[in-house]
Amino acid sequence: MDKGGEGGKFSANKAMKTISSVKELKENIKSWKKEGLTIGLVPTMGFLHEGHKSLIDRAVKENDRVVVSVFVNPIQFGPKEDLSTYPRDIERDKKLCSDAGANILFNPEASEMYFKDASTFVDVEELTEGLCGSKRPGHFRGVCTVVSKLFNIVTPDKAYFGQKDAQQLAVIKRMVRDLNFDLEVVGCEIIREEDGLAKSSRNTYLSKEERKAALILSKSLNKARNVLSEGERNTKSIKRVIEEVLNSEPLAKIDYVEVVDSITLKPVEKVEKEILIAIAVFIGKTRLIDNIIF
Ligand code: PAF
Repeated sequence: MDKGGEGGKFSANKAMKTISSVKELKENIKSWKKEGLTIGLVPTMGFLHEGHKSLIDRAVKENDRVVVSVFVNPIQFGPKEDLSTYPRDIERDKKLCSDAGANILFNPEASEMYFKDASTFVDVEELTEGLCGSKRPGHFRGVCTVVSKLFNIVTPDKAYFGQKDAQQLAVIKRMVRDLNFDLEVVGCEIIREEDGLAKSSRNTYLSKEERKAALILSKSLNKARNVLSEGERNTKSIKRVIEEVLNSEPLAKIDYVEVVDSITLKPVEKVEKEILIAIAVFIGKTRLIDNIIF
């Protein structure tokens, strides 16, 4: 791994480039490839927090060069979702990426990413039918399309995604396998606030009171982990335990509570293999997700 020297990693980091054109990004990638450098990609929608930073840190450790994309992808938002209000702070994002040692921050306009008459989209079937897929029609089609485009533009050796979006991670792994993308998808553990709330850009929507109430998500999952550790294997009972905890919080409204096989994402009745417990809960108007693997 190239760790420094003239034009090496450290000197390149000092001057992280912000690029908004696909053509310019491809030129940089081409010259890195010519030098035989490995490339890590961290796709994000910006408003970066400690969770993103942990992905960038890992990418910097494992690759010679790192590209972080910051793009609020319009085609993964439903018509009633928060595209226009999604939090943005590109100057803060630049600083975080640069401090973490990223080499390029790719921050394109939507018109740079999508041709007006774009007519090719990537759909992963089955895995996207349940969980967030059933609640957010078209969401994963938008995610898979933009992530495929980023993979084609950056041609990374490794791409980094958080386990917090467990379904997204499973869907992208399947897409990479099915479409023969030549890269490794690296799943990174959930980063939590000290009190247990999973870090998310959407946490900024929460009022003080809602922020307190949002703790109910991790509390309910901890309770589920406890009953599992005590030997409970019936998923109906496990779901009931989670729902009881969530319903004890007046500001929380359950969107879904699911216990699924961690690979197929199909609901299971009995815990026999590795399971994913995934929940989506509205706290006021803010929809938060969290999960555990057992
Ligand atoms: O997880 C996200 O932030 C987004 O879904 C992603 C992967 C950057 C695609 O827009």
